Amino acid sequence: MIVFLNNEHMKPIISPSILSADFAHLAEDIDMLNQSEADWIHCDIMDGVFVPNISFGFPVLKHVVKLSNKPLDVHLMIVQPEKFIPEVKALGAYIMNVHYETCPHLHRVIQQIRDAGMEPAVTLNPSTPVSLLKDIINDVYMVLLMGVNPGFGGQKFIENTVKKTRELRDLINESGSRALIEIDGGVNINTGAKLIEAGADVLVAGNAVFSAADPIAAIEALKNL
Ligand code: DX5
Ligand code: ZN
Repeated sequence: MIVFLNNEHMKPIISPSILSADFAHLAEDIDMLNQSEADWIHCDIMDGVFVPNISFGFPVLKHVVKLSNKPLDVHLMIVQPEKFIPEVKALGAYIMNVHYETCPHLHRVIQQIRDAGMEPAVTLNPSTPVSLLKDIINDVYMVLLMGVNPGFGGQKFIENTVKKTRELRDLINESGSRALIEIDGGVNINTGAKLIEAGADVLVAGNAVFSAADPIAAIEALKNL
């Protein structure tokens, strides 16, 4: 597996979110991603409890993984995500993202994800401060900052996320952590540029890719920010 380093001269990692794909023609959309400069495929699992929506689950993702030639970046917007570590692992996922707000025993969950052979990532809602990560930042592969309240694609970007990205970059640099910074929600060419400048490494994009007239060109534009 390729190791991505925090190198400001490297291009951003792009992780298109298939939440905005055409589920009736998912194979075609995965094929488009295979041909694109996308690095990962971002998979949003929702439970209707932690977030006010339900998306798709493991039966659908089993097909996605068969069709895709990119690592899966799995974002669990569900309560008790640790219950599903074996299922996420069985998919062959590269990254398992869990929400800070759903894990009272976050340190344990991160170890369990690592022990299962996946890279652990922790996600913060817009209202959850970066400072809460101080004691876990050296244990995670990546931190995902939500740029919208989770649950839906195509929402307006919350500008405070840029400030949070800077705070997180400072926390990572000060602690000697090698964690990547991923931003999810409301990312497009304009917000993406500000986020990269603030220190983001990974951009998730749903609407900005799948609603574009030319999704492959949209991915290329984000990659070249
Ligand atoms: C939101 C999801 C996002 C979503 C992003 O709850 O976690 O991954 O697909 O969609 P856009 O890029 O359209 O804001
Ligand atoms: Zn997501």
